[in-house]
Amino acid sequence: MAEPPKTAVQQTQQSSPAKLILANFLTTIFVVGLILFLLWLGLHPHFPSFQIQSFSVPGLDQLNGFRNVNITFNVTVRNPNRSTWIHYESIDGSVYYKDQKVGVKPLLYSFNQPPKSTTILQQVFGGTVANNHRWMEIMNDRTEGTVKFSVRLASFIRFKKSIWDRRHHRMHAECDIDVGPDGLILPSSVHDGCPVNLS
Ligand SMILES: *[C@@H]1O[C@H](CO)[C@@H](O)[C@H](O)[C@H]1NC(C)=O
Ligand SMILES: *[C@@H]1O[C@H](CO)[C@@H](O)[C@H](O)[C@H]1NC(C)=O
Ligand SMILES: *[C@@H]1O[C@H](CO)[C@@H](O)[C@H](O)[C@H]1NC(C)=O
Repeated sequence: MAEPPKTAVQQTQQSSPAKLILANFLTTIFVVGLILFLLWLGLHPHFPSFQIQSFSVPGLDQLNGFRNVNITFNVTVRNPNRSTWIHYESIDGSVYYKDQKVGVKPLLYSFNQPPKSTTILQQVFGGTVANNHRWMEIMNDRTEGTVKFSVRLASFIRFKKSIWDRRHHRMHAECDIDVGPDGLILPSSVHDGCPVNLS
């Protein structure tokens, strides 16, 4: 006597197994996605943002080699967050031409950046390109109108909401900068943002 209802139940279950599986699948994806998004927000709530203000290699048009040149740059770093402080270990800056490091220098020693504030990183580098082949490439780029440099900034940072987070994040920012034949930054690169990587 118990058997007919059983088949009825089996029949309703069999009526839409594909739909059920699909619904479960979509719900699972949604929930997992939401959790990942919240985790990501929690871990990366307040990236500092970098912006190029100026860059120059004075006398690039008169140099006949890249030794003891002075590279000057001004990059600003902004803490966009309304409530979070950022602590930076020293920030190291290096200037690259392609894969060649042209100059490197510590820019700032450790400091705390208040919410909604901007700090100027400006520096004069003593640049050197020891490699003649690279120097020829720079000269070729110059005759074509644009030399591409990049400024790479590296630090370890921590965040403070109510108390300092114990977790250190390794931070990298890379600013690509186009320089004209006269050694001055091209207007197209001014106020460009620099992609930031936190891990
Ligand atoms: C600032 O931080 C809070 C909490 O840490 C976060 O909810 C908010 O999205 C952050 N704002 C920005 C602009 O990063
Ligand atoms: C770089 O700066 C130093 C010190 O200010 C100066 O003596 C030197 O002539 C500069 N080099 C160039 C290539 O402008
Ligand atoms: C660096 O850029 C900022 C923002 O544009 C500006 O306020 C500051 O005066 C600049 N510093 C130098 C030395 O050019």
